[in-house]
Amino acid sequence: MIIENDTQLEKLKESGRIVRDVLAAMGAAVRPGVTSLELDELAGKMLSERGARSAPIVAYEFPGHTCISVGDAVAHGIPNNTPMVEGQLVNIDVSAEKDGVFADNGTSFAVGNVSPTAQKLLAVTKAAQHKGMFAARAGAPVNAVGKVITEDANKHGFNIVAGLHGHGVGNWIHESPDVPSQFFPNYRDKLVEGQVIAIEPFFATQSSGYFEDDDGWTLRLDNGGIGAQFEHTIVVTKGNPIIVTA
Ligand code: CO
Ligand code: CO
Repeated sequence: MIIENDTQLEKLKESGRIVRDVLAAMGAAVRPGVTSLELDELAGKMLSERGARSAPIVAYEFPGHTCISVGDAVAHGIPNNTPMVEGQLVNIDVSAEKDGVFADNGTSFAVGNVSPTAQKLLAVTKAAQHKGMFAARAGAPVNAVGKVITEDANKHGFNIVAGLHGHGVGNWIHESPDVPSQFFPNYRDKLVEGQVIAIEPFFATQSSGYFEDDDGWTLRLDNGGIGAQFEHTIVVTKGNPIIVTA
């Protein structure tokens, strides 16, 4: 989506606030013993109260209102009845549509106390996502985002999970352009003023790829270890981005 007027921007901001608030409420409920199904039920209730629809359901008939990925699952985890365990990381990804406009927001949370490595992975991935957002400027190559994210991953010794990347968003949940978290020198597309994109690096300790679980949805790290993702939806400008999910 390219924002062309205030009405579109206000709608996008409203969708952004909704996914942000749902994600925050879910994150506040993360603790040992809670199940992802309980968190997802909270999300379903909040989305319907706010007049929004789950993007994974609208776009993909996903079996849940939100994607909740625990342990070695990095993305597209199906809400289930397994209690979370102290020391795990859980990724919650909330995307929704209201008034025809989609926004996308994700965070990885610690379940209780987690290892120093897990704490570092969360902090580094979050910081890299933030740098990626501020590298996204009108006229800059899309690659500027992947460049700063890759530098951060390398600096801190984490892998980028290849194949999981950001994307255009707004009129639909996944639109062009692809917004890789890796640097691809031959990718020459440029960012445009008003462009709405989601930036979502996935960092991991041991794995740099993923495979799809037998359930047909859950993406799991292909070499074990732990992973984390942070995601915001932004509007690209000539200066700092408008972060609609913050
Ligand atoms: Co996304
Ligand atoms: Co997302």
